[in-house]
Amino acid sequence: MTTYAERPTLTQSTSLPPEKGRAFVKWITSTDHKTIGYLYLMTSFAWFLIGGILALLLRSELARPGMQFLSAEQYNQIFTMHGTIMLLMFATPLFVGFANVIMPLQIGAADVAFPRLNMLSYWLYLFGGLMAFAGFLSPGGAGHLPDSYHLGERHHLVGLFTFHFQMHSILPVLAQTFGY
Ligand code: HEM
Repeated sequence: MTTYAERPTLTQSTSLPPEKGRAFVKWITSTDHKTIGYLYLMTSFAWFLIGGILALLLRSELARPGMQFLSAEQYNQIFTMHGTIMLLMFATPLFVGFANVIMPLQIGAADVAFPRLNMLSYWLYLFGGLMAFAGFLSPGGAGHLPDSYHLGERHHLVGLFTFHFQMHSILPVLAQTFGY
């Protein structure tokens, strides 16, 4: 006669953390393409608002001829960051967001090919963007590119803006090349 061992009954010994905290941790640690897509969409919309505020500053400054309330240097920084934000931190990631949310569903895939790379991409985008924007707080101001003629004097300005692009560009390209 065949006998079977009793199946062990699983009892929940540890209590789960409260719902609110769990949802937050789920969002920031998720490798799910839809969640990452929504993070992209929300973040790019936030950058759109920030870029819009910079646009308002530009328009106010240009309301009358001559300089109003900004210096020429401040105008240049704001103009550079407005363009950078609108193209690289709003428009492009907006499409990455839609691609993440919609495309795997369209082709019936469970997720993108490299979900963790996809997640890393998002975090590099977020922190890279914040780093570029933090240039406003640096002594050299925002949006400076390394100046090949004056690198000796200005090497401290190489930092934030270009570092942002290194972070911002390399991994998303990898993720999109191999992942989609
Ligand atoms: C999706 C991309 C962009 C959007 C949605 C956008 C949006 C706007 C808006 C709403 C204004 C204020 C409108 C006005 O002043 O008439 C503005 C002004 C301006 N934008 Fe953009 N912008 C974008 C990309 C760029 C780029 C790439 C640059 C340059 C690198 C740029 C440079 C400027 C400048 C110089 C102004 C001031 C012009 C003026 O007020 O006469 N923008 N932008």
